[in-house]
Amino acid sequence: MFMKNCWYVAAYDRELKDGGPLGRTLLGEPVVMFRDSRGRAIALEDRCCHRHLPLSLGQVTGDRVQCGYHGLEFDATGACVAVPGQSKVPPGAAVKAFPLVEKYGFLWIWMGEAALADEGLLPDWWWVDHPGWAHNPGAFLHIQCHYELITDNLLDLSHLGYVHTRTLGNDAIVDFPVKTERMEDRVRMSRWIQDRPPPPLFKTGGGFDGNVDRWQIVETQAPAHTVVYAGCGPVGAGEFGGRTEYTSGIHIRALNAPTPETEHSSFYFYAHVWDFRLDDAGWKQQMYDGFLMTFLEDVDILEAQQASLMRDPDRPLIDLNVDGPGLAARRMVAERIEAEKGGQKCDQKGSRVDGQTVAAR
Ligand code: FES
Ligand SMILES: [Fe+2]
Repeated sequence: MFMKNCWYVAAYDRELKDGGPLGRTLLGEPVVMFRDSRGRAIALEDRCCHRHLPLSLGQVTGDRVQCGYHGLEFDATGACVAVPGQSKVPPGAAVKAFPLVEKYGFLWIWMGEAALADEGLLPDWWWVDHPGWAHNPGAFLHIQCHYELITDNLLDLSHLGYVHTRTLGNDAIVDFPVKTERMEDRVRMSRWIQDRPPPPLFKTGGGFDGNVDRWQIVETQAPAHTVVYAGCGPVGAGEFGGRTEYTSGIHIRALNAPTPETEHSSFYFYAHVWDFRLDDAGWKQQMYDGFLMTFLEDVDILEAQQASLMRDPDRPLIDLNVDGPGLAARRMVAERIEAEKGGQKCDQKGSRVDGQTVAAR
């Protein structure tokens, strides 16, 4: 069961560079994406209304996608507009069309009620387009796990000291507690690490010699849009433990938008931005490689965890303090799903469109 009335990333924009068609299962539904003659990205149901061949096996012709079996052509609205060998298009010949928006290097799709789709509900990831920040889009990661395991992973960075010792982690983290906040539209986890050695990536990136103050602030908006605010600065150079980062030092944001493929598999779309060594191509590559290596370490863990969970799904789990943010995020998503089931429409911020707000717990 997934939230439907919200934006998910369907693909990186570069995946449609050749125009498509690109077929992908999203939230259990087959979707085909392609670009029309003006370069606009379009998403339709990937199932021809004639004999149900996936349209992604066909071809793009101008502003249409043509089925590869008997040649039916569909326009951007999903309407069948040409049938080879007959002049009349049968009534009802159409496939579903999904709202699709291109932003921040991603194609965002709305799988729920199209009338509720609103670009204003996309997360505000302005750093991607800002000259004061460098940007790397992520690699394509197809993971055999439920997407909420990825959110759990991001909201519990205590795993850095065990899974990511080569890049982001060291054993300094676990001595410092996490704080969990549930806000109207998001869950926030924060952890401040005082006067400790920087992890390898930060040490190289910021050129730090000795100890640093370091922060990890992670915010998740439903369904699974998670920003990791990470960075470090000289010891005592800012308000340690405050709500915001030091202005001095180095700042990185990891932008994460995992999308469910099925109940047991996901696409992990991500990007990262940083505000130092902006014109350093070598560093850019190092960041790309470092994040990819880090995420591949997570993939190994998450797939093994999913397989283990499926082996004995009724076995209870034990919760720890560090699970607080992940559990809060799961509750937030569950409330949104409940609201959708009950016919109450929520916007991306968790507010009902009738003006009442879904209660925060
Ligand atoms: S199945 Fe698509 S045209 Fe026949
Ligand atoms: Fe990780």
